[in-house]
Amino acid sequence: MKKMVFKKIVSYLLLVMLVMYFITGFAMTRQFGFDHIMSRHLAHTIHLNMTIPFVILIILHVFIYIKSDIKKLFKSNGRKNAPKK
Ligand code: HEM
Ligand code: HEM
Repeated sequence: MKKMVFKKIVSYLLLVMLVMYFITGFAMTRQFGFDHIMSRHLAHTIHLNMTIPFVILIILHVFIYIKSDIKKLFKSNGRKNAPKK
């Protein structure tokens, strides 16, 4: 259950950050009126400082989902609750 919540938090944080990249990116390039939401200076600061958290989150996100597939790859019986014969 806790793992489920963690997965969701990571996934939706990633989505929020992606939206933030677009908002701040367009604010910097003065496109679609996003420069009215925040100054170009603030947009630039946010855009460039999101790199490390974004990379960490995307690694976590991908790892969480492929973890079980990796386990299955190395075990002949990957199912935890496989019925006993
Ligand atoms: C910025 C990029 C990304 C964002 C914003 C994003 C966002 C999300 C979100 C919001 C979910 C749904 C989570 C849930 O409701 O449980 C999800 C699921 C998932 N994501 Fe991503 N994701 C990104 C990149 C990736 C990448 C690069 C991969 C794989 C290489 C990936 C693989 C998956 C998988 C396998 C699922 C689960 C699908 C399922 O269980 O139905 N994601 N992602
Ligand atoms: C997934 C989305 C995005 C990511 C991961 C991302 C990442 C980055 C990174 C890492 C840099 C710094 C590059 C450097 O050091 O020279 C950068 C710069 C920049 N990005 Fe993005 N970006 C994204 C989306 C966008 C969008 C949608 C726009 C809007 C057009 C945009 C506009 C810019 C601009 C104008 C710069 C140059 C800033 C400067 O003058 O220093 N970005 N971006």
